[in-house]
Amino acid sequence: MSEQQELLIGLLEAVSTKLIAAEKTLTDLDSAIGDGDCGASIKKGFESVLEKLPSLGEQSIGSILKQAGMTISSNIGGVSGAIYATGFLRAGKAIGDKDKINLHDTYEALQAALGGIKERGEGTKVGDKTMVDALEPAIDAFGDATAKGAGILAVLEAALDAARKGSDSTIDLQAKKGRASYLGPRSIGHRDAGSMVICLMFEAALDFFKNLKKNY
Ligand SMILES: Nc1ncnc2c1ncn2[C@@H]1O[C@H](COP(=O)(O)OP(=O)(O)OP(=O)(O)O)[C@@H](O)[C@H]1O
Ligand SMILES: [Mg+2]
Repeated sequence: MSEQQELLIGLLEAVSTKLIAAEKTLTDLDSAIGDGDCGASIKKGFESVLEKLPSLGEQSIGSILKQAGMTISSNIGGVSGAIYATGFLRAGKAIGDKDKINLHDTYEALQAALGGIKERGEGTKVGDKTMVDALEPAIDAFGDATAKGAGILAVLEAALDAARKGSDSTIDLQAKKGRASYLGPRSIGHRDAGSMVICLMFEAALDFFKNLKKNY
């Protein structure tokens, strides 16, 4: 296994573990303005990723991401499963058969993931009170910090900060997409659960790279 294959598998393990542990938080958020299945769906989907990881060591990094997307797609139902799966699949496709990527390539893969998510959500935009409200500013901050030559820790800190602010911004918004939109103005005053999923992913990524005690 190359260093990057090993890093990606470790990263997916850290992200999955963090999301599985957040089941209750996500269920509580989704119960307020959705159908309350977000925690259980995320748990099931990312448990399937954890199970799959040991068999992926010999695959390219692009293919590891696609396999993660595929297992998410078969294990998380409904619209949100398709949305998360599309993100991983598009990121894997953007990386293609490169066997080594840098932060700029990672930024491009994240942008591809975001593009797929917005498309799959039928034109989701920032302000619709979805995961995109956290993901788009996080990816923008990732790109800006990368362009300035920052290392991965500073890049992920900037991305996490932007994701948290974006997630906070969903509290005062009325949902325009997803189940929460059926509530109309009653969706105001609650954080979007998917935006929390994005914050947890960046938090897990930052912690993972901090624990490596090696900057990239
Ligand atoms: N059109 C969309 N575009 C982007 N994100 C969306 C969209 N619709 C919903 N979401 C995100 O999905 C999250 C809900 O995930 P959850 O797993 O609870 O699915 P759901 O709304 O119950 O729908 P389903 O049961 O059809 O998957 C929302 O918090 C929101 O962030
Ligand atoms: Mg739900």
